[in-house]
Amino acid sequence: MNLIASPATKIHGDIICPPDKSITQRALLLGALQNKDFQIINPLLGADPISTANALKALGANIDISSEIMFSENNQGLCSPANPLDLGNSGTGLRLLMGMVAGLGINATFTGDASLSSRPMKRIIDPLSDFGAVFQHDGFILPIKTIASSLNSSFSYNMPIASAQVKSSILLAALAAGSEVTIYEAIQSRNHTEIMLKDFGVNIEVHTSSQGNEIFLPSNQHLQQAEYDVAGDISSAAFLIAAALLAEDSHLVVRNVGLNPSRIGFLEVLQAMNANIQIADQRDVNGELRGTVIVQSSELISVELGGSIIPNIIDEIPIISVLASCADGTSTIKDAGELRKKESDRIKAVKSGLDKIGIKATEEEDGLTIIGKSSNELEPMPIDSFRDHRIAMSFLISSIGIGKQVKVIDTENITTSFPQFIELAGKIGMHINEA
Ligand code: S3P
Repeated sequence: MNLIASPATKIHGDIICPPDKSITQRALLLGALQNKDFQIINPLLGADPISTANALKALGANIDISSEIMFSENNQGLCSPANPLDLGNSGTGLRLLMGMVAGLGINATFTGDASLSSRPMKRIIDPLSDFGAVFQHDGFILPIKTIASSLNSSFSYNMPIASAQVKSSILLAALAAGSEVTIYEAIQSRNHTEIMLKDFGVNIEVHTSSQGNEIFLPSNQHLQQAEYDVAGDISSAAFLIAAALLAEDSHLVVRNVGLNPSRIGFLEVLQAMNANIQIADQRDVNGELRGTVIVQSSELISVELGGSIIPNIIDEIPIISVLASCADGTSTIKDAGELRKKESDRIKAVKSGLDKIGIKATEEEDGLTIIGKSSNELEPMPIDSFRDHRIAMSFLISSIGIGKQVKVIDTENITTSFPQFIELAGKIGMHINEA
């Protein structure tokens, strides 16, 4: 499906942030492992969590999906699936579930779509193998088979990259196996797994020092939770917030936005870019901070990004790049080589999109330099989303900043993280139609 966005000048509204993908995925996995009556309130019913839920069902979990997700106890627990588990486009679903299945010591074959099948899995196969798991694979990519084995009773791991998926995969493996694990991370990655484990009654400890975080999960922990309420996804809200910043006449209120400190780098970047943003009504539900974000039209300035903020904003860099393209001055993004390993090579995809809307930018190995307001008078060329949801949404929003119609190709994967995107964008004043 191709979409065309017409340039909106007025973005007004009072909306509820769509539910968080990372958190929904974790609630599904812990719900299945817990194997008790359990309810996920306000889950993201996007294609990624649904792939994970279907994989869990194939493993034997009793899951009922409607506007909420209900689990009921299954006498046999989780066991080897009859068919391969297809995780679709979902890197989080795949990496976390592989950890959990390895910890349970059951045989399963994992597959995914073309994007997921080209993404690196060595990052989880290496530590999980050191932990005692056994895999069959050809070159550390899908399809991958877990071979039933027992994990060691104790394991410690020093994270070579800041990755919440790797960290969470190891934690779920340990939890499922009843082993103890210590993980050292020099740079903070999102900590939803640690927070959710605590909320489920697990005795996990996190010590923070100048060296980073030491995360300790003792052996033989049990999950005990009856319901979990999912916060809104700041990574999805980011597109609507950007639309309001770029339009001439805006007043947008987004409620129930997840404000976990390991995810709000986007708001810090916007403050540095001179954005007119306020946060109100902060509260904690199931251990996760959330609140209301109020946005008005802003004259943005350029920004220099690199270092430890990068993992915190990794999913927002495509939309930050679009904002930088409409800001005064030259922006730089460094230390973001991980972007090349996402649903698409996002450095290449952003550069390609910026070229098509006439913005001058250069691509580095680990980032981008973007010259703000360098757009020419030419009409934008159709933009390749590289079948990446965040690239598709970012460039649809760029129509507001450059004041021209923008066409984006192959946008189906928007449903992986933000199935209501077109509807909510329309509600606040954008016009996005099928082309
Ligand atoms: C995620 C972690 C991030 C992020 C991804 C979701 C998660 O990946 O990019 O969209 O839910 O744990 P990495 O941890 O691999 O950087």
